[in-house]
Amino acid sequence: MNGPPQYSREPADKRAFTEAADRQYSRWSGLYDLAVRILPVWRRWLDQALPHLHGPRLLEISFGTGYLLSRYAGRYECHGIDYNREMVAMARRNLRRAGLAADLKQGDVEALPYADGTFDSVLITMAFTAYPDADRAMTEIRRVLCPGGRLVLVDVNFPVDGNRLGTWLTRRWQAGGDIIRDLPAILRRFGFRVEDREIGGWGSIHLTLAEKLPDPN
Ligand SMILES: C[S@@+](CC[C@H](N)C(=O)[O-])C[C@H]1O[C@@H](n2cnc3c(N)ncnc32)[C@H](O)[C@@H]1O
Repeated sequence: MNGPPQYSREPADKRAFTEAADRQYSRWSGLYDLAVRILPVWRRWLDQALPHLHGPRLLEISFGTGYLLSRYAGRYECHGIDYNREMVAMARRNLRRAGLAADLKQGDVEALPYADGTFDSVLITMAFTAYPDADRAMTEIRRVLCPGGRLVLVDVNFPVDGNRLGTWLTRRWQAGGDIIRDLPAILRRFGFRVEDREIGGWGSIHLTLAEKLPDPN
């Protein structure tokens, strides 16, 4: 066992953090697309979000090259936003090739270009750990969800039982630059009912389901 989880600090220079990550995504977007296609374990983790999506209106934030979009786009009114221009271009191309449609934009989770209460579900996979300011991101995510709306997240976190392998794997992601946070605690602070499940990687990959509760007043 490894003692209590050592969560990450938020980066001091948030703009520099985002821009550095964005350069890497631009450089590796083609390889990223290939990796998602050929790595069954990655697809297995992401696919576990699918049964929890509710329509009719769905927003995927940070969709990357659009693997999950291509799995559900025929079934909902789909919107998506991602910071990286190359990822957006690649996702558009992938959807077009699959004969599917979605309204995809380039933009930042911290300034979502949608009206309050627009979406029944918001989906984010393997990306919350890339956001440099959890509170600003969560404020925007909560704002665009309708009352009772669902936030469905797949991401890295420490295993609840503190097992060595899962903890080691989480620390490897952390060493690579991912910001590992106590996501269920953040979600509760932002007025969500939360269910957190470990779905892979010896407890290091979590599916977190959150329901937006009414504003307290
Ligand atoms: C590791 S990839 C995950 C892609 C995909 N969701 C998946 O699970 O394979 C992280 C994605 O987050 C996006 N991203 C990073 N910072 C962002 C921000 N501030 N706002 C929106 N998207 C962001 C990146 O452009 C990238 O496409």
